[in-house]
Amino acid sequence: MTPSQSGTMNLTLNVWRQKNPQDAGKMVTYPARNIDPNMSFLEMLDVVNDEMTLKGEEPIAFDSDCREGICGSCSLVINGVPHGGSKATASCQLHMRLFKDGDVISIEPWRAKAFPIVKDLICDRGSFDRIIQAGGFVSVNTGGTPDANCLPIGKKDADRAMDAAACIGCGACVAACKNASAMLFVSAKVAHLAQLPQGKIEAKERVKNMVAQMDAEGFGNCSNQSECQAACPKEISVDFIAQMNREYLKSSV
Ligand code: SF4
Ligand code: FES
Repeated sequence: MTPSQSGTMNLTLNVWRQKNPQDAGKMVTYPARNIDPNMSFLEMLDVVNDEMTLKGEEPIAFDSDCREGICGSCSLVINGVPHGGSKATASCQLHMRLFKDGDVISIEPWRAKAFPIVKDLICDRGSFDRIIQAGGFVSVNTGGTPDANCLPIGKKDADRAMDAAACIGCGACVAACKNASAMLFVSAKVAHLAQLPQGKIEAKERVKNMVAQMDAEGFGNCSNQSECQAACPKEISVDFIAQMNREYLKSSV
């Protein structure tokens, strides 16, 4: 039955609850009542949290910010799939109309050594920030605003750089990978800059440093199963991993 007579749905949520990084954590079952199918998944959690707060219970902690698929904050493993398995859709853009009245839904955080759980569904993705920091700066001449088109960039390069720049740094690629590899994320960041003339000056150092930091953070290796690409809300292609490997090889000769 989709949705019930009143137009709303009643669901059962199995949610990962963990008080702090030291707590062992466990799945806890909650009802989600009178859920409007037009709500987003996070709005549904807001409704559940409101009810819990009114009852004096500790609401479920989860990350979100833009709620429009562009910031990369939301990070839920829904029914075992990062972001819920709807093609090119972040958790915040997932709508309840995709579920049926009476459904049982499991909700867990990203699970990876390099993403330690802070509380409930929130994990620490600072490792991604440190990889970006390791990438360093891009040489640009300061001064007046350059004229448009004074640095022509071919459409193919511009489009490819834009495709890589679409990565929102959510970490679903890591959560989807059995090795918890961050190769898709790192390759998107490396390729984005390596594709453009502005990024070529420090390209060699950048790829070496970012890969070294990725390894130091404890992410696993890529075994070419493309689960990362399937889970990515921005459809970042594994082709970028091949490009990063080429960039890395160039940097070492
Ligand atoms: S590559 Fe995709 S899944 Fe990975 S961090 Fe970027 S947007 Fe998220
Ligand atoms: S909350 Fe910003 S991408 Fe989901």
